[in-house]
Amino acid sequence: MKVTILKERRSNETRVAATPETVKKMTAQGLEVHVEKGAGLTASFTDEAYKKAGATIAATPTIALKNADMLLKVRHPLLKGEDKIDELAGLKKGALLISTLSPFNNEKGIAAYAKDGLTAISLEMIPRITRAQGMDILSSQANLGGYRAVIDASHDYGRAFPMMMTAAGTVPPAKVLIIGAGVAGLQAIATAKRLGAVVSAFDVRPAVKEQVESLGAKFIEVDNDKADEAETAGGYAKEMSAAYKKCQADKMAEAVAASDIVITTALIPGKPAPRLLTSAMVKSMKPGSVIVDMAVEMGGNVEGSKLDKIVDTKGVKIIGYGNLPGRLPTEASTLYSRNILNLLQLIWNKETKKLNLDFKDDILKGSVLTHGGEIIHPDFKAKEATPKKVETKKAPAKKSVKKQPSKTPKEKTKKVLK
Ligand code: NAI
Repeated sequence: MKVTILKERRSNETRVAATPETVKKMTAQGLEVHVEKGAGLTASFTDEAYKKAGATIAATPTIALKNADMLLKVRHPLLKGEDKIDELAGLKKGALLISTLSPFNNEKGIAAYAKDGLTAISLEMIPRITRAQGMDILSSQANLGGYRAVIDASHDYGRAFPMMMTAAGTVPPAKVLIIGAGVAGLQAIATAKRLGAVVSAFDVRPAVKEQVESLGAKFIEVDNDKADEAETAGGYAKEMSAAYKKCQADKMAEAVAASDIVITTALIPGKPAPRLLTSAMVKSMKPGSVIVDMAVEMGGNVEGSKLDKIVDTKGVKIIGYGNLPGRLPTEASTLYSRNILNLLQLIWNKETKKLNLDFKDDILKGSVLTHGGEIIHPDFKAKEATPKKVETKKAPAKKSVKKQPSKTPKEKTKKVLK
């Protein structure tokens, strides 16, 4: 079975779908891995390292794709006419495509996968169930994203995070506010704490208070009798009432004005990002302060944030990087490729050397978009008739947006603290 790894060609993409480590494991399981020349270089993996791990290096994407049974990618393949390269050309009919596929903004792609008879697995659609934790690219990448958001904020802040007591006097610690304490938010809290900042955090789900406090941050509470309705039985965030939102806005305004760094990660599954920081709140911050809007691709938590730009508003910088994990390409590729390897354990039978696709399995039920020439995922079958797009900020072709419900608080803390 020929497995192909291409160099990622979408803008700002530095990750790669397999590393020498995972190639070695795939070849040991009877898969024949072909890596396009230079595919891993942006993530510091050389062709020699892939070769040593058992891969064949293909001089061109055309050679890599020719007669491939499986294509592993980070970002959804470029289609004919979209670029110089058609990243589906040459694949065997019925081949398996495993990648993030941006299904909510990729009707053309989904139609093309069906037309080519591909079995297309959208990694961001893998359900967040315990059994699938090892395959959860959203968590592995959000974890790194939360870390990188703090590092980028500290770089642009240009001042120290920890309190420093010197003979010349005391430097006060930076005050960091994290809004949204999910996977990315909890990692951002942990990182800012490690750097020595004074950290506070807010989330609509009061259940995360304990986790925030266990990381050494202060949890900001909104006194509203609707606060205990913020979470569904499954531990997911819900959209809040107008009265709650007003209370939250007042509390946020106070906390934002007192902060040097604000990192926003608020997400409600399946909805555009809630707008939490208004221009007035941004203006209330001291010059030199920094905001990172991690939800920028979903419309943004911050008024004025722009995808892949740093906007300077009277000395307050708003960072809107859309691919924070891609700013840590080696680690991001390592975790992403392990997520894929874990998925392969489910669908590849190393004894019979055959794929074993059980479409009744919840993991595949949630993530397979097309198979046998048809769109089989119920969410996108319906979209064939009434296409509906999720509003995102305009930018050159970007990575997918998250649509999955958040983990239970327990699962999240476990992941972040690992
Ligand atoms: P998550 O679902 O684990 O966490 C989101 C958190 O936001 C939840 O705890 C939820 O309760 C909270 N929340 C929802 N509404 C809120 C509100 N009004 N106020 C305060 N908190 C609220 O999601 P995860 O994985 O942590 O990702 C967070 C965001 O970061 C997503 O928008 C995701 O797309 C984005 N992201 C961006 C990256 C980038 O490179 N820019 C990388 C990874 C994730």
